[in-house]
Amino acid sequence: MPPATSDDTQASTADHCCPGIAATVWDQQFDTSVAHPARVYGYWLGGKDHYEADRRAAEEVIRLRPQVVAGARANRAFLARAVRYMAAERGIRQFLDTGTGLPAPANTHQVAQGTDPGCRVVYVDNDPLVLVYARALLTSTPPGSCDYLDADVRDTAAILSGAARTLDLAQPVGLLLLAILHFIPDSDDPARIVARLADALAPGSFIALSHLTADFAPAQVTAAATAYNAATPIPVHARSHAQISSLFAGLPLLAPGVVPVNEWRPAPGGFGPPADLYAGVARIPRRGRR
Ligand SMILES: C[S@@+](CC[C@H](N)C(=O)[O-])C[C@H]1O[C@@H](n2cnc3c(N)ncnc32)[C@H](O)[C@@H]1O
Repeated sequence: MPPATSDDTQASTADHCCPGIAATVWDQQFDTSVAHPARVYGYWLGGKDHYEADRRAAEEVIRLRPQVVAGARANRAFLARAVRYMAAERGIRQFLDTGTGLPAPANTHQVAQGTDPGCRVVYVDNDPLVLVYARALLTSTPPGSCDYLDADVRDTAAILSGAARTLDLAQPVGLLLLAILHFIPDSDDPARIVARLADALAPGSFIALSHLTADFAPAQVTAAATAYNAATPIPVHARSHAQISSLFAGLPLLAPGVVPVNEWRPAPGGFGPPADLYAGVARIPRRGRR
């Protein structure tokens, strides 16, 4: 079980990996008594930056669907495979990572800059805690660069104009939408969000997406999602294979298509344990070829 490092009411800088971070967040009157997606996910990944409310929510989901821990790890492994593929095999040198999450092993800029240290990354999240940590820890060394945007993924205009400070949107971009669109209800039209972002990206760009599904264990995942939604202010929405495929807004998918997250171009040595997420990568073709 991940270590418990901080307490609801007694959080101090000593509870955290980075001196100063907790105090900064405290100043922003961050409500640590309410579980938050980034910290709950971080707990499943074995991170140490979570509060009692996050641990309670995370443990209840684990009780109802123990595979969630393997799923979070499989999702991070997909992130690394997708970014490495785009950078090493398709020459992508700039990335837009929406729904960054708390720093974890193999963050986007680290994977991309492992191929070319000059890669540029813009991290986007709407959780102030994530952004404080990202600014402190997701730092690039020259010649690459990282920037951080406090934006909701629904505000695509703000994301694109903010990203343009660091990225050249006339050149191909690797857009990551990993484990974020299941926080967007149908009423906010997640496919439209993807389409608006895709329309602003240059031909030759890629979109990597992963998303919670109840397809493999409907009763358990539905029970776990219900418990999660009772504990956090941002409900999660599991979607089917057909629904998740439609989020790619009609863009052509790379082989093997939308598949269980552990089955997308697995590393030599196997698929890893199954997970309740689908993943896929699409490519933005030349204009008029969609
Ligand atoms: C489950 S974490 C995923 C982290 C990372 N993308 C990964 O796959 O490892 C989801 C992240 O999305 C962020 N998020 C949720 N809804 C969002 C929204 N509407 N706009 C921007 N970020 C959002 C959360 O704050 C959290 O950091």
